[in-house]
Amino acid sequence: MDKFLITGGTPLQGTIRVSGAKNSALPCMAAAILTEDEVVLENIPHVRDITTERKLLSSMGAEVDLPEDHCTRIRCAVLSDPVAKYEIVKTMRASSLVLGPLVARVGVARVAMPGGCAIGGRPIDLHIKGLEKMGAEIVQAHGYIEARAERLKGAHIVFDKITVTGTEDLLMAATLAEGETLLENAAREPEVSDLAALLTRMGAKIEGAGTSMIRVQGVERLHGTGPGKGHIIIPDRIEAGTFLVAGAITGGDLTVANCDPSHLGAVIAKIQEAGSNVEIVGPDSIRVRAGGKLRATDISTEEHPGFPTDMQAQFMALVTQAEGVSLVTENIFENRFMHVQELIRMGADIKVESRTATVRGAAHLTGAYVMCSDLRASASLVLAALVAEGQSVLDRVYHIDRGYERIEEKLCSVGAPIERVTNAPDPAEETASL
Ligand code: EPZ
Repeated sequence: MDKFLITGGTPLQGTIRVSGAKNSALPCMAAAILTEDEVVLENIPHVRDITTERKLLSSMGAEVDLPEDHCTRIRCAVLSDPVAKYEIVKTMRASSLVLGPLVARVGVARVAMPGGCAIGGRPIDLHIKGLEKMGAEIVQAHGYIEARAERLKGAHIVFDKITVTGTEDLLMAATLAEGETLLENAAREPEVSDLAALLTRMGAKIEGAGTSMIRVQGVERLHGTGPGKGHIIIPDRIEAGTFLVAGAITGGDLTVANCDPSHLGAVIAKIQEAGSNVEIVGPDSIRVRAGGKLRATDISTEEHPGFPTDMQAQFMALVTQAEGVSLVTENIFENRFMHVQELIRMGADIKVESRTATVRGAAHLTGAYVMCSDLRASASLVLAALVAEGQSVLDRVYHIDRGYERIEEKLCSVGAPIERVTNAPDPAEETASL
């Protein structure tokens, strides 16, 4: 298993570029199921989850190829096996994004139930409820969901809870349904709007994407992205936010390029509140500079445009270095504090009570051997290691590779002493031999 070796104490300087958004690329790739034509997607990040989704689509009969760097071409002319097998789904729960498109395109779908993951139960009951409202017959057995429908019918769906992939799944299903679908209490994340932009280019009739009320007029068929450049995936706002925190926590002078500042309002405001200078220096660039001592700052995660849950762990690392007491409240997932114990092992002072972590700073962090557990918790450990005294060893960095493209190379390019050690023995093997 790969590890990162990181030595703390170097302020990051220079410009770091953001890749395309994993959480937009995943639904956009699933959207290719809705047509037999070719769909071309640009600015696709090289991350494990994307590789997993390519495997998933190919396993169902899609032709998937990579004509050039960061570009994926998908053609679902024949979907010979509309099944998302457990072996793939268990490695990426976002595989449930193929459920709606498969039922809409081929009238049947078998998708392994994703099961929980490190950050929570992650049910997809709202996806299922919405499809049933659209006339799908759903059977859940043997760990699989089987959905069937001659042709889905438009419906007025009100989400009990705001769900990002639930909104995306049903938005895709609605594009080919008979009649009008209303998605109420829909997610407003930028990734939903990016998916809607792709679907509209494919011939879908969608209004209100990016608001909590999305209206879809179903059509008979969708076409591909057509001649010329493919659909360009939006920049990854969470990767951008992670790098802004890297500049803030190391007290450096870092420009985050190729991002979309309009997606980062809440994150920028909170990093400024914590005492760093954050400036939008161009339509796709943000500069973060040290602003003296970091100040205690509270965050409470909310759906977009609130402070994103995917930035909670990273911001917690930042406020371990802030003078005073910061409250970090996680409202979206029930178990998204996996990073806390590892940060404590590095010297952080954090106490968790239900959904709120009380962080006392500024803590003197020291390098340690720490374990990555899930994607964003791992990013939090990278950030802490960048400021800790001495060397940290981060194990199981495959978690980071799921959502960050070559993060060690990008951080190295702005001065971070970080290196990847490949095929290092798993510490469990070492202790076992002791
Ligand atoms: C998406 O997950 C993202 N993943 C997550 O990013 C992100 O943390 C999350 O949205 C919240 O912003 C992708 O887009 C691939 P939800 P998703 O459905 O759609 C509950 C990362 O780090 N819920 O918006 O799975 C659910 O348990 C990942 O990149 C139901 O109860 O999240 C949670 O409490 C992690 N029933 C809340 O809603 C459902 O049917 C929000 O979940 C669906 C969700």
